[in-house]
Amino acid sequence: MKHPVIDKILSDLRLPAILPEGFDAAQWPARRAELVEIMKKEVYGYPPEKPLSMTFESETAPINYCAGKATLETVTLTVTLPQGKFTFPFKASVPTGEGPYPFFVFINFRPDVPDRYLPSEEIIDRGYAVLSLYYNDVAFDGEDGFEGGLAGMLPKEDRCGKIGLWAWAASRVLDWALDDPRLDGEKAAVIGHSRLGKTALLAGALDERFAAVISNDSGCSGAAISRNKAGERIETITRVFPYWFNESYPQYTDLEREMPFDQHFLLAAAAPRILLVGSAEQDLWADPNSEYLTCCAVSHVWEALGEKGFVHPDRLPVPGDTFHGGKVGYHLRHGSHAICRDDWNRYMDFLDKAL
Ligand code: GCU
Repeated sequence: MKHPVIDKILSDLRLPAILPEGFDAAQWPARRAELVEIMKKEVYGYPPEKPLSMTFESETAPINYCAGKATLETVTLTVTLPQGKFTFPFKASVPTGEGPYPFFVFINFRPDVPDRYLPSEEIIDRGYAVLSLYYNDVAFDGEDGFEGGLAGMLPKEDRCGKIGLWAWAASRVLDWALDDPRLDGEKAAVIGHSRLGKTALLAGALDERFAAVISNDSGCSGAAISRNKAGERIETITRVFPYWFNESYPQYTDLEREMPFDQHFLLAAAAPRILLVGSAEQDLWADPNSEYLTCCAVSHVWEALGEKGFVHPDRLPVPGDTFHGGKVGYHLRHGSHAICRDDWNRYMDFLDKAL
């Protein structure tokens, strides 16, 4: 399908090209690695490497959960890095019965299961497990001079932003999951909302073992293209939340059009896997149009790799739209900034068919 209206909007943004002229699919692993490197260098910083070793223990025996339809356990991971050991917990809600189950690694704002952002019983009833990780257990979401948690163990020079540390932790939860026969390691999705949607996108870019990458209302420095973005911009986000990013990102304040990258590099790094973006009508701070435009801007990468990209009409989205015809999906729901059952159900509708 031709998209003269959307193509004109995108060409006016003058986005740096994701793929070089004459691109050949065989070049994708190398180009993908370059895109991830650019986003680390320019925006998020460098997370720690893979740990030297890892151990885990279940704090509690799995408890009967959701009337026996699932078990719930708290797992404590201890990760050994060159700098020392770091320990953090997560919660595993796994359906009982015949596995292996597809599963979510959900990075959340609270440790609770269920939680207003985590309708765990509905997720279990649909045949998915969910491993939920409370981000403050990894690195404090506030100004702490990078003294606490994982941040406190790492060198201060050229420090990683906290989004990068949370993303790294999501991969450690995945390490655990891949050893659990109840879970289907080929069907792992990483998901988060808002600042943790930015985190999920980065986790999916860093770790190709995630078969699906899901961003809910992630907005600025997440799924939204920065050029011409409405609502939050680099100036605001790096002033209010400098610790989310590396120390060089603020240099692009008000220079979005000059940047040698944009957020389409981050989303493209999910290719050729599943990429799902969700927006909310009233979430003008995140800017649904800019989130949608990033999906439009990356579609050709999937196509160049022989996959269906983003199937969408030649217009901006309206509330109620769901475009799930390719490997890049987008929805715009009614209502405000949140991850609600409606969002989860749309993601699972897509994954039921695609995974
Ligand atoms: C703030 C911030 C956003 C972020 C959001 C959230 O509004 O400006 O960038 O996504 O918090 O995490 O809820």
